[in-house]
Amino acid sequence: MDHHQHHRVGILTGGGDAPGLNAVIRAFVKRGVGQMGWQVIGIEDSFNGVLEHPFRVHDLTPRSCKGLLHRGGTILGTTSRGDPFAFGPEKKDRSIEIARAVETLDLDGLVIIGGDGTQKIGLRLMTEHGVPVVGVPKTIDNDLSATDQTFGFQSAVDVATEAIDRLHTTAEAHDRVMVLEVMGRDAGHIALHAGLAGGADAIIIPEIPYDIDRICKKIDRRLAVGRQFTLIVVAEGARAMGGSSTPIGEDHGVGRILIGGPGEQLARAISERRPVETRVTVLGHLQRGGSPVAVDRILATRYGLGAVDLVAAGKWGRMVALKNGTITDVDIGEACLVYRYVDPDGPMVRAARQVGIEFGG
Ligand code: F6P
Repeated sequence: MDHHQHHRVGILTGGGDAPGLNAVIRAFVKRGVGQMGWQVIGIEDSFNGVLEHPFRVHDLTPRSCKGLLHRGGTILGTTSRGDPFAFGPEKKDRSIEIARAVETLDLDGLVIIGGDGTQKIGLRLMTEHGVPVVGVPKTIDNDLSATDQTFGFQSAVDVATEAIDRLHTTAEAHDRVMVLEVMGRDAGHIALHAGLAGGADAIIIPEIPYDIDRICKKIDRRLAVGRQFTLIVVAEGARAMGGSSTPIGEDHGVGRILIGGPGEQLARAISERRPVETRVTVLGHLQRGGSPVAVDRILATRYGLGAVDLVAAGKWGRMVALKNGTITDVDIGEACLVYRYVDPDGPMVRAARQVGIEFGG
């Protein structure tokens, strides 16, 4: 074992899961515990594990992290409803309890693996309560500008691509318009990448509001050359030109729900205008489940090791990031403030247009 300064750190996963979370934890523990001799305490279900008594925490060791590289989900559990600054239905500020737990557990700080929401909580814990934190970015949406690629994105793209391939054969068999709705929040990266990889005829993304007539004309052009089916990929945040994005409702105060997604809206608009059969598939959480693809396993491992380096260097308040193929770090504040959207004039959209893909705008 190398000789390094001893650390005792907590680690948690927050927000929605993404394939590769376990690979981050595994790499952090292999390096931090196995090689640096630190103690790593896993906190269960985001911050909730230390908001309950007794705490739900446990020691993580290379032995307890065996076999994790390919496992989806997170062995620590997660929640997107555990904001300690606005906890539960009463939105109670329980953040001081996190600071006290860090003291009680004798932790040097927390490694927080999460998306923008979770990173913002980490930043507030640091600025308002002096809790040292290191961030690891996580989102399948790939919409954080601070980092070139987040783990989980490629896995989601591959699932969506396979879905397009499968829809292709049944669309062709039935002469149907098949609409596949994919995730991505307000960004169209998953739709664009999967649409290109799967050879979609149209890709509808939030960054390019669509004109329904252009989509219908695409269907017409295909029919004119004997192509009786059309495959359309729609990002969940897509909206029609002049319209707003899909209405969002509350599910009894515990979160947001989508009321009739953009896939349904688009399919309805098409069948009102053309005598074609349309079907909608909402891919949903299949995009987040299961094993991470190789690219994400490697990326997650590198992020986990990057977090070890930040803790070792005492670089609290920083988040691991990938820039031009190199693991580096950025200020957590900067990291969660700036989103990255699809550039409508960028090379990916251009490439798609050059192979005849319609964007509706
Ligand atoms: O941010 C990741 C993501 O999967 C988005 O693509 C999607 O809008 C959202 O999370 C779904 O959240 P939930 O798992 O809470 O339904």
